[in-house]
Amino acid sequence: MKVLGIESSCDECAASVVESGKKILSNVIFSQVDLHRPFYGVVPEIASRRHIETIKPVVESALNEANLALTDIDGIAVTYRPGLIGSLLVGLSFAKGLAFSLGKPFIGVDHILAHLYAPHLENDITYPYMGLLVSGGHTIIARVDSFDRIEVLGTTIDDACGEAFDKVAKHYDLGFPGGACMDALARKGNPRAFNFPWPSLHKGNHAFDVSYSGLKNAAVNQLDKFWNREFEKNKENIAASFQKTAIDILVERVLKAVENLSLTRLVVGGGVASNSYLRQRLNREKSLEVIFPSLKLCTDNAAMIAGLGYHMLISGQRSDLDLNAEARVRDFRKTYP
Ligand code: KG4
Ligand code: ZN
Repeated sequence: MKVLGIESSCDECAASVVESGKKILSNVIFSQVDLHRPFYGVVPEIASRRHIETIKPVVESALNEANLALTDIDGIAVTYRPGLIGSLLVGLSFAKGLAFSLGKPFIGVDHILAHLYAPHLENDITYPYMGLLVSGGHTIIARVDSFDRIEVLGTTIDDACGEAFDKVAKHYDLGFPGGACMDALARKGNPRAFNFPWPSLHKGNHAFDVSYSGLKNAAVNQLDKFWNREFEKNKENIAASFQKTAIDILVERVLKAVENLSLTRLVVGGGVASNSYLRQRLNREKSLEVIFPSLKLCTDNAAMIAGLGYHMLISGQRSDLDLNAEARVRDFRKTYP
């Protein structure tokens, strides 16, 4: 079964054909990063307008790369939540139009579950496992029981991990997108140059939660102390010290969750899963099987949408053509979705 996946939840316009939930026949990603760079962040109106221009050629490229015609496709999967509403609507409407005109099965896919599915495209992974989703919009620690069932143990109480990277990078003018630029700079810096604070979320319901606003503010406020031009010399040190603290906070929480639930496998997904220090830090855990997606499948892509869509479709799930886009998921503190 060949599923066409479409992803347009943020600033990547992507389409992919995946066979049997595993074999990637094509994976086309049109990134808008150059368009948003002058603003140091994704501008929703610009993103959705650009998606309208690129969605058709991106889907055509995915079919061409897979050497398939639209009629060869057995089902259509598309991200319907969470994300920027205008961006989501472009992919969702396009997918609905295709499904209706071709009379093919249609399924709306949750972007969070799709990020957790991404490593399955390249590895044979058995459930259950601990899932760690770290992206620009989410930071989630969850027990994953199947492709569409997770129990959320912890999340961020304020900023997402990737968002904190992006904001600090913006304040220091370190480049866009911030996470990858900070990661590159950090390699040349001293991670112990600055002593940034840790959140104190130890008790009760917060046992597996993280918080990034305190760390972000501490790193940003450090800039005020640099007006004597010391900052240029310290760019790499700021990046390295911030990155170490941000990732150590995450690792401490996820390892605690793994131990608490006596799991032996940890699967990581989302844009921050590309982070070299996170990979190095978790791969040090010899008693734990740690699985990361390849770099291309960490950040937003449509292969993860097609892959997860396949499993939803073969389990009999279908979405109606009146499915609406949803910008956010309100409550993570329960079995999800
Ligand atoms: O998964 P993704 O492409 O989009 C969302 O669903 O949010 O993740 C994008 C996020 C951004 O915040 C970006 O700065 C971060 O992932 N990111 C990184 C790295 N590469 C991307 N953060 C830290 N280190 C990296 N190497
Ligand atoms: Zn994402």
